[in-house]
Amino acid sequence: MMQAKVLLVGAGGQLGYELSRTVPQSVQLTAYNKSQLDISDQAVVMDCVNSSRPDWIINAAAYTAVDKAEEQSDLAYRINRDGPTNLAMAAHQSGAGLIHISTDFVFDGNKSSPYQVDDEPNPQSVYGASKQSGDEAILSILPDNLAIIRTAWVYSSHGQNFVKTMLRLMAERDELGIVADQIGTPTWAHGLAQVVWKAFAAKLTGVYHWTDAGVASWYDFAVAIYEEAKSMGILSSSDDCRIRPIRTQDYPLPAARPSYSVLDKSTIWNALNIEPNHWRSALRNMLQELLAEQ
Ligand SMILES: NC(=O)c1ccc[n+]([C@@H]2O[C@H](COP(=O)([O-])OP(=O)(O)OC[C@H]3O[C@@H](n4cnc5c(N)ncnc54)[C@H](OP(=O)(O)O)[C@@H]3O)[C@@H](O)[C@H]2O)c1
Repeated sequence: MMQAKVLLVGAGGQLGYELSRTVPQSVQLTAYNKSQLDISDQAVVMDCVNSSRPDWIINAAAYTAVDKAEEQSDLAYRINRDGPTNLAMAAHQSGAGLIHISTDFVFDGNKSSPYQVDDEPNPQSVYGASKQSGDEAILSILPDNLAIIRTAWVYSSHGQNFVKTMLRLMAERDELGIVADQIGTPTWAHGLAQVVWKAFAAKLTGVYHWTDAGVASWYDFAVAIYEEAKSMGILSSSDDCRIRPIRTQDYPLPAARPSYSVLDKSTIWNALNIEPNHWRSALRNMLQELLAEQ
């Protein structure tokens, strides 16, 4: 079988890890983490692409520390704008395609119905603005050979995320206040990785949205994590924790979050013939995996 050559960058992150373990047989994958390939270094990116000549590049690398970005703006832009720009320029020069991941944080959150792919971005944080400027840059460099998939609230058994933080806090504390007035959709990185590979196989181009299906507040998500983890025995019967809904203003953070960031997924469902997968069943699958690793 003729294998397509794919270069994956940011392989050490949540999505990068899931992409590496779901790679299709038709793909010859070269995967680099940050220490192996720094996407913000233009010369290194050009050299790597020119010598390895991938058919496609998948960018799972990003600066994702949303709150730290408020005071590390230069670094966030170097990674989230200049990094994808370097990859797109290298792809353009070598004739490769690019799959890039973006975020619900490009939107302001003022809508109350799901964001469409062509809704106007209006980021409210440095992280969101740096991601949006990366998206704009690569769309102009590589308009025809590029897929951008915006996603949200990503978690995985690998890496740091809301689910793992909650499990730790729920075991340590008797009570937790969790924000109930930000609405979005939790997304298991494993499912996202499978969608990226489907998008790759279909040579999808354009801007798309993918999260798991359904909607939740962070409070709803925390309650689900607690209930599922208790019923699976990940949290023991003695780990009792009361989860209280609180307002965003009661838990101030440096970066503003969209209060509503549900994404409309219908274009990618239709383009790839995908059945919606509810976030709660994806959560159960991830927790099963954590349980198996315990
Ligand atoms: N996590 C979320 O909730 C979320 C929500 C919406 C969209 N997204 C988007 O989804 C994509 C994947 O996110 P994720 O959750 O997998 O993030 P992640 O776990 O933070 O992974 C990002 C990876 O990129 C690496 N990286 C940072 N700077 C780099 C550089 N200059 N060159 C190469 N690699 C670099 C990081 O390495 P270090 O850790 O060593 O810095 C990390 O391994 C990103 O585009 C992100 O913006 C994420």
